[in-house]
Amino acid sequence: MDSTKLRKLFLDFFRKYEHTIVSSSSLLPTDQSVLFTTAGMQQFKPYYLGEKSPYGNNVASCQKCIRTSDIEEVGDERHLTFFEMLGNFSFGGYFKEEAIKLAYNFIVKELKLKIDYVTVFSPDKVIEGDWRKGVQEDKESFEIWKKVGVPEKKIKKEGIDSFWGPTGDEGPCGPTTEIYINGIEVWNIVFNEFFCDKDKSLKKLEPAGVDTGMGLERLAMVVQKKETIFETDLFESLIKEIEKLSEKKYKDYQKEFRIIADHIKASVFLASEGVAPSNLAQGYVVRRLMRRVVRYGKLLKMSDDFITPLIKIVVEIYKDVYPELAKKHDEIISIMRQEEEKFEKTLEKGLKILSQELRVRDYNPNKETKDIPDITPIDGILAYTPPVLTGKWLFDIYQTFGFPLELSLEEIEKMRGKMHRLELERVKKEFYKEMEKHQELSRTASAGMFKGGLADASLETTKLHTAAHLMLAGLRKVLGKHIFQKGSNITAERLRFDFSHKEKMTPEQIKMVEDFVNEAIKKDLPVKFEEMTLDEAKKINAMGVFESKYGEKVKVYTIGPGDEIVSREICGGPHVERTGILGNFKITKEESSSSGIRRIKAILEQ
Ligand code: ALA
Repeated sequence: MDSTKLRKLFLDFFRKYEHTIVSSSSLLPTDQSVLFTTAGMQQFKPYYLGEKSPYGNNVASCQKCIRTSDIEEVGDERHLTFFEMLGNFSFGGYFKEEAIKLAYNFIVKELKLKIDYVTVFSPDKVIEGDWRKGVQEDKESFEIWKKVGVPEKKIKKEGIDSFWGPTGDEGPCGPTTEIYINGIEVWNIVFNEFFCDKDKSLKKLEPAGVDTGMGLERLAMVVQKKETIFETDLFESLIKEIEKLSEKKYKDYQKEFRIIADHIKASVFLASEGVAPSNLAQGYVVRRLMRRVVRYGKLLKMSDDFITPLIKIVVEIYKDVYPELAKKHDEIISIMRQEEEKFEKTLEKGLKILSQELRVRDYNPNKETKDIPDITPIDGILAYTPPVLTGKWLFDIYQTFGFPLELSLEEIEKMRGKMHRLELERVKKEFYKEMEKHQELSRTASAGMFKGGLADASLETTKLHTAAHLMLAGLRKVLGKHIFQKGSNITAERLRFDFSHKEKMTPEQIKMVEDFVNEAIKKDLPVKFEEMTLDEAKKINAMGVFESKYGEKVKVYTIGPGDEIVSREICGGPHVERTGILGNFKITKEESSSSGIRRIKAILEQ
């Protein structure tokens, strides 16, 4: 069954059960706290909060979505930046029993698929201090699954992986129940029982709603019995075309093929909504996606203008479902070609300048030469540092020629071998510092929405974010182990941090926490992250939990080397690479936030 049939089957099924079918909304949401539409429920957000739905209480849709938070992971078997989400939604019309029955009937009776297992929410699986810890176990869903015929041993209890939302700063959220087929999560059924505030406190939502999401690509994968989403009909013709244009086989270059295929789709859809590459917000994402397409195209030695035939294929795949693609066909090609040509030219120039400079001034460690360059100590360790290599210089190249740092570094390593880790860190640090000065670091740098309450990804905000981790460790040391983070909000100017504690802090305690943080800064400790499962993170006593939807793995940030770990937290980042650049940490305010919760405001002085 091809994806066109699958979409239709889904929507027809819900139409039969008296749902109004609503068209996909734009990829550019009205909700300003997110850059892109990341889920089907987004266009319906107000109807969960009491606004009357013009479509009635029960709706279904197939929504185009963009999620850029995993952009670096695209290339594996299951990550995408562009995807479609099938969903049914109810704003007080029905709740758990009907939602589960509908899903079960669609999957088992309509599609004749076999469910591996389902999950339900249990706070027992949530670590202490998490804002979802107080939510009750979803016994009702457990019983309903049993009633529809899923054996008890196939109903797994899960923690925050079975809790969804909110999108953006605040909004509806609640426990979920998920359907797994062939080991992958296929359908996420959310029960919006709460409204989550900016500070992560939960209020009961009346009436509670239903929000479901099923990735079309994944569903197609299981229905079409394919190993990966890239082998489904949603990608097949695109992969074939890349094979043709590159004269290479997909099986030999899977990662490159997948990145090009995914990014070209996302770019086409964004361009069809008039988003042109720029250095700001959504435009920056398109620029980044396009430039990656061009780079990987180069890696595959694709012929010039490989973009146009690929755009045509994307339009072909989707034109019946999203007529805007065919309508805007010429405009899309023109937007994307312009960017491609611009980037090609700048790449060429940048590459020339870079290699000329390096050749003239650089030291080649593979050649025997007496011409030893300056030896500059970095962080007290000697490393060979040709005078040319500063982050500022690479930033100038980036500014003038659009030559991205990662490409420069690749080129440099090609010419002079692997860089010393410390040198690499220094160059990167300098590069980003320069970027910050030029206010170029767009708030979109790493995600459609920033996690952990960060307003943007500027260097100042990132520094304060790392300082927040140190501060939490300090608070726990000074006040005790009952301290857990209850919320945070970080801008380039200050951090605001809520934590569980009853009494007002004394001036001495405040001073002790400040000293703790400043001590860690003075030691210039490394900040590292590792990816692991939630269970592994718990085992090593990592603190706190943020979103981990759609990925079973979490990132754990550790500050300090093995024998001197100061802080260890589950966190999406971003963080600075060493604490030394933070400056002087100062708590400017300590006050009550709500009952049993204190709030600190703090800054970093240079
Ligand atoms: N909104 C839920 C999700 O995106 C269904 O997974």
